[in-house]
Amino acid sequence: METMKRVGIALSIIIFVLVLLLSSTAAQGGKIRGRRRLPCKQMVFYFHDILYNGKNAKNATSAIVGAPAWGNRTAMAGQSNFGDLIIFDDPITMDNNLHSTPVGRAQGFYFYDRKDVYTAWMGFSFVFNSTQHKGSINFAGANPVLNKTRDISVIGGTGDFFMARGLATLMTDAFEDDVYFRLRTHVKLYECW
Ligand SMILES: *[C@@H]1O[C@H](CO)[C@@H](O)[C@H](O)[C@H]1NC(C)=O
Ligand SMILES: *[C@@H]1O[C@H](CO)[C@@H](O)[C@H](O)[C@H]1NC(C)=O
Ligand SMILES: *[C@@H]1O[C@H](CO)[C@@H](O)[C@H](O)[C@H]1NC(C)=O
Ligand SMILES: *[C@@H]1O[C@H](CO)[C@@H](O)[C@H](O)[C@H]1NC(C)=O
Repeated sequence: METMKRVGIALSIIIFVLVLLLSSTAAQGGKIRGRRRLPCKQMVFYFHDILYNGKNAKNATSAIVGAPAWGNRTAMAGQSNFGDLIIFDDPITMDNNLHSTPVGRAQGFYFYDRKDVYTAWMGFSFVFNSTQHKGSINFAGANPVLNKTRDISVIGGTGDFFMARGLATLMTDAFEDDVYFRLRTHVKLYECW
């Protein structure tokens, strides 16, 4: 009888501990039961945007293609550039030098979508056709440009980057008036094939 009782007590303690463990992991929800997910592939690139300003047609890699009624297509519209839509075909380099040999092109658009703060929405691809990389990585998301770093989604890829999923941390590495900026792009893929 005495041993049965002890076994009973031991069992209830085990069940109690199990319930505690389960409830603590459930509370962590989004972290996938306490497991931290790490990227399976990371890469750093820079891309360089030279905006057409009416004088630099030869060098410009991007152009305002849409502006609100109070603006035009040679200068940003004011009010945090609200309403300006820009299309770009920018060189991508491995370091922060505009004159380094490009490894690909960053192609897409961004538009400013807030009047009181500089913030843009971007949709673009990194297109690679070099011995290092072949294929593309597709990006989309909000880019609150005044934040030191901001994350946008990696929503897919082709070629070497087939089925890529993850995010990219953007950082403004240089900014000169409204004409030139350089974005450091730290790509972190959480799905690799
Ligand atoms: C175009 O780029 C070259 C090389 O960086 C530079 O010397 C030149 O001043 C630029 N021209 C314009 C109009 O921005
Ligand atoms: C475009 O707008 C800017 C700023 O308002 C102004 O300085 C410039 O003269 C305008 N350019 C044209 C071609 O209308
Ligand atoms: C990629 O580069 C190769 C070799 O330079 C060229 O033959 C091919 O047309 C290029 N592909 C694309 C999609 O640009
Ligand atoms: C802006 O940066 C801060 C810290 O630097 C971060 O907490 C916040 O999430 C960022 N916001 C966006 C929208 O990326």
